[in-house]
Amino acid sequence: MVHVPAVTVHTGLPVVRAIRYVEPLREGGSLPGLVEGDDLGTYVVKFRGAGQGPKTLVAEIVVGELGRRLGIRVPDLVLVDLDDAIARREPDPEIQALLLASVGVNLGMDFLPRSLGYDGHGRRADADDAAKVLWLDALTVNVDRSWRNPNLLTWHGQLWAIDHGAALLFQHTWPGVEAFAARPYAIDDHVLAFAADRLPSVDAALAPQVTPSVLKEILTLVPDDWLPEVPGMDGAEPDAVRAVYADHLAARAAASSAWLPAGGA
Ligand SMILES: Nc1ncnc2c1ncn2[C@@H]1O[C@H](COP(=O)(O)OP(=O)(O)OP(=O)(O)O)[C@@H](O)[C@H]1O
Ligand SMILES: [Mg+2]
Repeated sequence: MVHVPAVTVHTGLPVVRAIRYVEPLREGGSLPGLVEGDDLGTYVVKFRGAGQGPKTLVAEIVVGELGRRLGIRVPDLVLVDLDDAIARREPDPEIQALLLASVGVNLGMDFLPRSLGYDGHGRRADADDAAKVLWLDALTVNVDRSWRNPNLLTWHGQLWAIDHGAALLFQHTWPGVEAFAARPYAIDDHVLAFAADRLPSVDAALAPQVTPSVLKEILTLVPDDWLPEVPGMDGAEPDAVRAVYADHLAARAAASSAWLPAGGA
């Protein structure tokens, strides 16, 4: 049976319907939950109604999908349609409130069963994989890949990047494009800093791939409703807001010599 989502979403991400809320994830600050989809998939769902707000979901899509296109392993992303009945069945009042506030479209990430958290203390990740993730984080100013909170998984012996909600700093402050493009990025606390010596070659390979057309395509994956109000752009069409995100990232990719972390120089 073809699934017709309750809410019409115009993005290229697949839409699955939640059929069961399984359990909360133990570690997540935003109370992400494990959800069964009607496609037999199991997803880690970030709820639209969480305190962090939809901007973190925008960052998850933009940075996750950009990373995937640059050859970084990111679990598949989907939109998860949550209906009222599932929310009402949830006995835990805190979770029920979150689910009720999130009826409609949410973000799902394919759950990697039995994956291990990568904490940097055991066997090191492959240096090329690590350098790519480090470069992506520097490009998108992702401050959430520290030793304390690595947001990396090891699955079948390979490194997977998750949780990009804290990236795209500019969407919380909206500086001019120029200010964001050249903003330095500190890697001292980054769990993959060991790979910094590979940054120049990774930069040479990846920066040219962050083109306006790739960015435009990625931004179309973001649902209209999740795009924020941009100061000075009251009432702007969603595509105009998408273009601002793409411009910020394209400008920064073109200015990598200004922010490429020391140690990679
Ligand atoms: N795709 C996945 N497969 C398996 N486990 C996952 C997956 N995504 C997340 N997890 C687990 O759930 C935890 C919380 O997920 P995530 O870091 O994305 O949530 P968060 O609320 O943004 O977290 P925080 O803000 O606390 O870093 C992860 O640390 C990891 O242990
Ligand atoms: Mg996390």
